[in-house]
Amino acid sequence: MLNRKILVTSALPYANGPIHLGHLVEYIQTDIWVRFQKQRGNTCYYVCADDTHGTPIMLRADKEGIAPEALIAKVWDQHYADFCEFGVAFDNYHSTHSDENKVLASLIYTRLRDAGHISSRTITQAYDPVKNMFLPDRFIKGECPKCGAKEQYGDGCEVCGATYSPTDLKNPVSAISGEKPIAKDSVHYFFDLANFTEMLSEWTNAGHLQAEVSNKLAEWLGGGLQQWDISRDAPYFGFEIPDAPGKYFYVWLDAPIGYMASFKNLCDKQGLDFNEFWGKGSDAELYHFIGKDIIYFHALFWPAMLHGAHLRTPSAIFAHGFLTVNGEKMSKSRGTFITARTYLEHLNPEYLRYYFAAKLSAGVDDIDLNFDDFSQRVNSDLVGKVVNIASRCSGFIAKRFAGMLSVNCSEPALFADFINASETIAEFYETREFGKAMREIMALADKANQYIDEKKPWLLAKEEGKEQELHEVCTMGLNLFRLLAVYLKPVIPALAGEAESFLNIPAQAWVSGLQPLLAHQINEFKPLMTRVDPDKITAIVEASKENLEKTPAIAAASVASVVEKAAPQFEPIAETIDFNDFAKLDLRIGKILKANHVEGSDKLLQLTVDIGDEPRTIFSGIKSAYQPEALEGRLTMVIANLAPRKMRFGVSEGMVLAAGPGDKEIFLLSPDDGAVAGMRVK
Ligand code: MSP
Ligand code: ZN
Repeated sequence: MLNRKILVTSALPYANGPIHLGHLVEYIQTDIWVRFQKQRGNTCYYVCADDTHGTPIMLRADKEGIAPEALIAKVWDQHYADFCEFGVAFDNYHSTHSDENKVLASLIYTRLRDAGHISSRTITQAYDPVKNMFLPDRFIKGECPKCGAKEQYGDGCEVCGATYSPTDLKNPVSAISGEKPIAKDSVHYFFDLANFTEMLSEWTNAGHLQAEVSNKLAEWLGGGLQQWDISRDAPYFGFEIPDAPGKYFYVWLDAPIGYMASFKNLCDKQGLDFNEFWGKGSDAELYHFIGKDIIYFHALFWPAMLHGAHLRTPSAIFAHGFLTVNGEKMSKSRGTFITARTYLEHLNPEYLRYYFAAKLSAGVDDIDLNFDDFSQRVNSDLVGKVVNIASRCSGFIAKRFAGMLSVNCSEPALFADFINASETIAEFYETREFGKAMREIMALADKANQYIDEKKPWLLAKEEGKEQELHEVCTMGLNLFRLLAVYLKPVIPALAGEAESFLNIPAQAWVSGLQPLLAHQINEFKPLMTRVDPDKITAIVEASKENLEKTPAIAAASVASVVEKAAPQFEPIAETIDFNDFAKLDLRIGKILKANHVEGSDKLLQLTVDIGDEPRTIFSGIKSAYQPEALEGRLTMVIANLAPRKMRFGVSEGMVLAAGPGDKEIFLLSPDDGAVAGMRVK
């Protein structure tokens, strides 16, 4: 296929927080793919934008005492600077709060409405009577209807794992004002997704999706498609719905339209034809790179919206997995919630680009950033194998041959081997099997190093009459280095650019037709990349822990935490029980052997407790008050005969006793005076 026309997007990052290393998996993956397409000579545009609408952004602006427009402008600058420094080269980076997006969102909505795909009805929702606004589920807190745990969010209980709707919460309060919400009616607009059931059943099985994604969608389609609520009431930061004053498009309606808006903005700047890419029957290719958490929006709502509005649907959606750090979800307290900025302050961005490339595949598996593995791969592959070839050969060419390469190439067969690998490597890039591409390239780097090891230029340099051989061997080495730089260019463009300056050659396209550089003057060699400094990694982790203390987090949870807490008060004594009820309790002294964080929970710790028999696993909601390390070795009181309870995170085999109003003030009951694990409490 000659000169394909391709439009590529990455998901639009929310404008309510900084870019972090998790995001970068996606932007780096997409950027590598786009750079590869361009290097192959295809016409390829890469567009993205900040996703600026919605309640969290409105509330954060409120809290900072600025207009949402000012907030999103500030965040746009930060996001854009981060992307540039990581080498993520968008052809356009726009905003969903733009004229283009407003026009396109209205157009698509109007077309859907006129085709009968929009309906409206009254629904009842929780409303904050102080803040005068409807409350999204995660802005309502209360007691779990099942286990009574306090401070649970409107969508589910962190302690017992129950899921429910916010109206089931006991003693609910608004996480914004702390006031009890009232129920209030309002008209909402819905997109009738079910009208597209047939279209979607076909589309999701027509090769536009990865196999595992199609399977997931088959499940969702099998369960029946619900109407999608696309409107929100004022106050809301977004676009007002054209024929419904006071109603706004829900952020997820105009977000994907933001892809089109960013491209429209580019078309206007560069005189491109918008319809050539988005019109029905377009022969351009359209790809969306996304994380696996937002498949529903991209593989159901989005194609249905486009189809219903008489626009083309995507050629494919490429979903990727999530980033974990050292095997666990990114965590602020462990210093593994690392922002792009913190990383940039300490380490070379191309280390990370290479590391992600080496770990990425075409699937949706999560990928892990392990710092030891990271250092080892970068040091051994990029520094030890690739850059090393240039440093081994360049000195002789500079000192002995005045920077001039030899007239002959000593090993044309080896050069040909490198060229012949090109289609295999290209195929791996094309199919997003970047890990495989990196392995293939590193196998070539090994071959180049073997060649140099065998020829031993450092010995040739000392022998009489070996001048020409030395010249040819080093020329050969640098030619192999050049091909490696071409192959790695989508991944490490800055290093490849420096290699081009060193070799004194123009920007390299793909290798087809490349001839060896002979009788060619090169420039002085400067070290292209140094080894990863382990102290820098420690510094990143430390700085990321500091972030936690210095900058207030900005997600919903933190909005909740700024709510004034009620003064501690004594709760009324509960109903009397008789002695037999009390006697049923088997209370024991437990010794905490181990305490760990629970992945995905901001309340629980997982304790391993010795109560005299087999060590028990007990989940306890005391994380706000205790660091796990501080608990190990301590004695506490345990209800030993509580029936095991299955929780979202595992089975809890007992309960530890604690007192206090909550948050930092939870006091584990800790006996002293000679108590030992397993003793009965009487
Ligand atoms: N604003 C929406 C996307 C709208 S697209 C029309 C959104 N924003 S986000 O900032 O939360 O995420 C942006 C992208 O980064 C998403 O594709 C998301 O899956 C991805 N990632 C966010 N955290 C991630 C990891 N920890 N790991 C890998 N990708 C991650 O969703
Ligand atoms: Zn519960």
